[in-house]
Amino acid sequence: MKFMLTGGRPLKGSVDVSGAKNAVLPIMAAAMLTGDEVVLEDVPDLLDVTTMRGVLEMMGARIERAGHSLRIQAPAVLDIEAPYELISKMRASIVIMGPVLRRAGHIRIPPPGGCAIGSRPINWHLKGLEALGARITMDHGFLDARAERLRGARIYLDFPSVGATENIMMAAVCAEGDTILENAAQEPEIVDLANFLNEMGGRIRGAGTSVIQIKGVKTLTGTTHCIIPDRIEAGSFILMAAACGGDVLVRNVIPAHLASLLAKLQEMGVSFQEEDDGIRIWGDGRLRAVDIKTQTHPGFPTDLQAPALALLTRAEGTSVITETVFENRFMHVEELRRMGADIRIEGRSAIVCGQERLSAATLTASDLRAGAALVLAALTAEGTSEIRNVHHIDRGYEGMELKLRGLGAAIRRAPDGEQPGGEAAAPAAAERGARLCLLPR
Ligand code: EPZ
Repeated sequence: MKFMLTGGRPLKGSVDVSGAKNAVLPIMAAAMLTGDEVVLEDVPDLLDVTTMRGVLEMMGARIERAGHSLRIQAPAVLDIEAPYELISKMRASIVIMGPVLRRAGHIRIPPPGGCAIGSRPINWHLKGLEALGARITMDHGFLDARAERLRGARIYLDFPSVGATENIMMAAVCAEGDTILENAAQEPEIVDLANFLNEMGGRIRGAGTSVIQIKGVKTLTGTTHCIIPDRIEAGSFILMAAACGGDVLVRNVIPAHLASLLAKLQEMGVSFQEEDDGIRIWGDGRLRAVDIKTQTHPGFPTDLQAPALALLTRAEGTSVITETVFENRFMHVEELRRMGADIRIEGRSAIVCGQERLSAATLTASDLRAGAALVLAALTAEGTSEIRNVHHIDRGYEGMELKLRGLGAAIRRAPDGEQPGGEAAAPAAAERGARLCLLPR
């Protein structure tokens, strides 16, 4: 599927941000730590949620979805081998290692491998689980991890890895004794996971700081938990509103989660204000060039680097964007250049010379955040752009085209076979199904 998008319109109205993809995925995995029923609210309708649901169901969980609520119950881990075809689709599923290791004492999982933005090793995940008592070997292409008992330990992370922090927290929450995790990731999604585990009876302190203290407990019970808003989806819409001009209220936002983005918007000269239920952005789309360097939280989030870079192709002046978290996260630059953007890469930095307007083009999304960057660029470009491989966007943005249409954008989803301006080729049945419902009801 692709998006057809005609640019040049201001955005007006309000848009609701969904629950956070990067919070709900580890929390769904954490639900495997108890045999009780867990209810999650504000669960976004995303391909990645569907994939994680498939992984957990194949390992023994019963999961029902009703709107944005998910009921999960894992009476027992029926199969300790994670399904290869699903793990390879979504590397984030590696976070089931901690919970299943704790629950079943054994898990076999294929190493998730790399993706468009980098090689994505998991060495710090494995080092942390081994420190807690796991024995991990490679067996016929599967990581084979066993642990009759998990014991608390003092663990130092060489880098504040989000996934490694989550895996270690979920393995340590029911370990025997206390765990101290130093140089831990501080992202809001870590705090949401820790809050969820504490609601289940866990004893975790310090989440959101670089030192997390975990007192092991014997069992965890079911709970109902509301997922935090998705700060990256919110930031993506805020950047789109700044790029197009108009007057947009982005609702269901926790401003403290976006402090670094808001500080950069101020430097750019973008008009915005915090309101009771969100952040309002207005203006004529003009903005000043700024320098951005991605960092771990609370620094500027790497997941907003691509849309921010696309915005800065329109700024007055030259911006330098430096990506310090992933080694290959400038895949969107080549596509933006095809729209006329003036960008050159030097090492880990992109130097962007801003200009008045980009021109529409046929574009290809390489990953979900690069896809968001291409949508932002197409919204401001002269003419009608096609953005292909929108399944990448569907992994992390719930109904992006519907939300943007609600703001007045001229965007629609179309089958790949549709010619620009021509009739839509009859979509295959599978495509029709894919278009109407991302999740099995
Ligand atoms: C999480 O990925 C997010 N994904 C990413 O969001 C996000 O970009 C990233 O954190 C950084 O904030 C989810 O939460 C599902 P890391 P994760 O471990 O956990 C290297 C999106 O667009 N590393 O903090 O994989 C790694 O290669 C996605 O929503 C090791 O070398 O990120 C990377 O360069 C993309 N060894 C850096 O650390 C390890 O054992 C940060 O990775 C682990 C990581």
